[in-house]
Amino acid sequence: MATVRSPSYLLTLGRWRRGVGVAPQARALAALVPGVSQVDNKSGFLGKRPHRRHPGILKLPCVRLPRALADAAQLMLLDSAVPNVEKQVQALTNYLWSRHLPVEPGELQRRAEHLEKRFLENSDSFQTEEKLRGAVLHALRKTTYHWQELSYNEGLSLVYMAARLDGGFAAVSRAFHEIQTQLPEFQPKTLMDFGSGTGSVTWAAHSIWGQSLREYMCVDSSAAMLDLAEKLLKGGSENGKLYIPGVFFRQFLPVSPKVQFNVGVSAFSLSELPSKADRAEIVQTLWRKTSDFLILVENGTKAGHCLLMEARDLVLKGKEKSPLDPRPGFVFAPSKKPKEEKFSMVILARGSPEEANRWPRITQPVLKRPRHVHCHLCCPDGHMQHAVLTARRHGRDLYRCARVSSWGDLLPVTTPSELLPSPVEDPPES
Ligand SMILES: C[S@@+](CC[C@H](N)C(=O)[O-])C[C@H]1O[C@@H](n2cnc3c(N)ncnc32)[C@H](O)[C@@H]1O
Repeated sequence: MATVRSPSYLLTLGRWRRGVGVAPQARALAALVPGVSQVDNKSGFLGKRPHRRHPGILKLPCVRLPRALADAAQLMLLDSAVPNVEKQVQALTNYLWSRHLPVEPGELQRRAEHLEKRFLENSDSFQTEEKLRGAVLHALRKTTYHWQELSYNEGLSLVYMAARLDGGFAAVSRAFHEIQTQLPEFQPKTLMDFGSGTGSVTWAAHSIWGQSLREYMCVDSSAAMLDLAEKLLKGGSENGKLYIPGVFFRQFLPVSPKVQFNVGVSAFSLSELPSKADRAEIVQTLWRKTSDFLILVENGTKAGHCLLMEARDLVLKGKEKSPLDPRPGFVFAPSKKPKEEKFSMVILARGSPEEANRWPRITQPVLKRPRHVHCHLCCPDGHMQHAVLTARRHGRDLYRCARVSSWGDLLPVTTPSELLPSPVEDPPES
């Protein structure tokens, strides 16, 4: 069981949505009001809903693995002969969480030149160039993060499964939940998962869109991981029927842009790639192959966040157009006891942003204070706002909605961009 917390994400909308239009609750709040933290209270946006279920609430407090998946994983661990599994699980979890981005070759060169200059300035004891080079390399090694590619062989794949199956499943479920809540009409038929690992994305997608999904393409360069994912789908054994029909396994991404998938996913896999150029190539290929949503999930760390911002900018500012699908992309959403999963996410969609929900996203824990509440908001145009809401100033409904909202939810207000950026609102009324 895992609780999901604090996504930072990007989402994109697709062609299918044009006929469907904007969700009714979004239309109800479409009127612009002066000020970031006001709402059109007269439009009855709550309907008969209680405040705690206002239409911006997106949190998914607790996620459980499907019984069949949990049983299969348990069986495989019991059958395995991995020594000291618990220790290895802890070590891998720590390693993955504290991982930084690989240092780019250009950056390494810059650092080496800087060190060389410093050595030459501060010492004349380098009689030979060889000695100087040795000293520079030694200093570089000591001060530079050494990124290592993981080789997911059979043993590491099992340890990865034990360490990350539940957390990965929970984070991706939260991303899918975001789309499903905002666009209940979306019925994807095909999904492609890059760096599919244990197949947790397939299981999570099946839990949400199992009725409509007909094809799940799992791409992973590790044959051992693909075997493990297939075994999990067969209840933990070599033989038997796949629990989810229509799952295909491949070691390479299909590069041709001719075939697109409704949903493209990369979960915790961009961080496995050795350079910015490799990441760019994969993101561009994934985007070309996405017809509706591209969902990117990484750890909720600085490195994870940086990876997603890099990928988002590549899609949004990218000059390269897909020959078959020229529609631009836009951001649809940003981004332990039971175990808690902190992750970063970005969901990119094809289409135009006007069609998406344009409410601001809450980007920090909501601070509830006597008769007022602080909300840090990321507005649809990218500006950050710190809004202080009170019942007297903003109406009882909005005030109560804000009080029951959490980090990651949308706040049902309109934020006219011409008023941004605006300072902190008036001091709270007591
Ligand atoms: C950290 S695991 C993530 C697994 C899964 N997506 C999840 O959420 O648990 C990363 C996976 O990416 C795979 N991978 C790494 N480089 C790859 C590449 N160039 N092409 C395809 N898969 C790759 C690895 O084999 C590994 O299974």
